[in-house]
Amino acid sequence: MNPAYASEVTKSGVTLKAVTATYPVSDRAFVGPGSDAINANCVTCHSIGMVLLQPPLSKQAWADEVTKMRKAYGAPVAEADVPAIVDYLAALKPGR
Ligand code: HEC
Repeated sequence: MNPAYASEVTKSGVTLKAVTATYPVSDRAFVGPGSDAINANCVTCHSIGMVLLQPPLSKQAWADEVTKMRKAYGAPVAEADVPAIVDYLAALKPGR
């Protein structure tokens, strides 16, 4: 609670009390080797669930997916981070 504010205010017979609420914080993140690049680039716009709910995809399809995020949705992913992200996805959800 911010100590600069009174924790209780009464006016016209109405009392307002400050309360402290604790909200759940999602600690879900990509884990394991090579997850740094994807955690740094792919969770700003959507949850990791958006990625995990995808069916298994070929490495080329994952590469296309990352290109789509960058080109169609404007994801600010550095070119240098792309291979690590694609490798991570292809290992996580490999398809044909
Ligand atoms: C600039 C915002 C942004 C960033 C950053 C971003 N995405 Fe997305 N992503 C989107 C949007 C918008 C959608 C579509 C959401 C919808 O359909 O409701 C999406 C959807 C997806 C989907 C679901 C399939 C699809 O094509 O719609 C996957 C998988 C995905 N993103 C992966 C990634 C990966 C991997 C990264 C990191 C390289 C990433 N995203 C970074 C905006 C972003």
